[in-house]
Amino acid sequence: MKNIIIGNWKMNLLEKDIEKYADSFKKLLKEEKINCDFGFAITGINLLFAKKLLENIKGVIISSQNCHYQTNGAFTGETSYTQLLEHEINYSIIGHSERRQYFNETDITVNKKVLVMLKNKMFPILCVGETDEERTNKTFLQVIESQIKASLNGVDKNDASKIIIAYEPIWAIGTGKSATSDDAEEMCAFIRKIIIDLFDAEVAQKIAILYGGSVNADNADMYFSQKNINGALVGGASLDPKLFFNLLRKA
Ligand code: PGA
Repeated sequence: MKNIIIGNWKMNLLEKDIEKYADSFKKLLKEEKINCDFGFAITGINLLFAKKLLENIKGVIISSQNCHYQTNGAFTGETSYTQLLEHEINYSIIGHSERRQYFNETDITVNKKVLVMLKNKMFPILCVGETDEERTNKTFLQVIESQIKASLNGVDKNDASKIIIAYEPIWAIGTGKSATSDDAEEMCAFIRKIIIDLFDAEVAQKIAILYGGSVNADNADMYFSQKNINGALVGGASLDPKLFFNLLRKA
């Protein structure tokens, strides 16, 4: 499978920044071919603006950073999966640790979102990750196992390979303190084993498992050379088109 690299812009970039970004990113793409699948996760108000500017890039993934599992209703401030679908946005990050930490996202809501997305032929980018404390007290494997099992509860085996899993240790996000390649590989291999137990080996081979947490062009190689790491979810290093492009070149 090709590596998948998603730039998570989080709550950054104004329209004027996105215009400049798209311009220089497309220029870079003209100069050199990229061998991985890639895309951008964009905040709600900028999603359609950025989509218009980026969608003519072949194969580009345009993703939301969140979506609600209800079709509509009294959920002030939320965007439903149907509203994304209306604009042919088929990808969404689900359960990012910042959503869990600041907006009370739980494994239960994450599971509802995953199920509704799969039912509607969408592609969830499911984030899991342990805290610093859980890494130190060595409960991280149990923590991730329970997040994955709860998030994928009730998923049909025929849909499972559409899920992209991003392993993002919380202590590595935005801190510059990235996981070692051994630790990241250990966890991604462990996640793949859980997928075999939940579904089967064929599904586990098809599911892309990404690493996220302070990935940049300088450390990307060490992750992409690991057997069970199929790409990256990238925050800070995706905000500059040149830095992001340099990272894509490593895949
Ligand atoms: P970072 O963010 O690359 O800035 O650490 C990763 C993420 O939150 O997806």
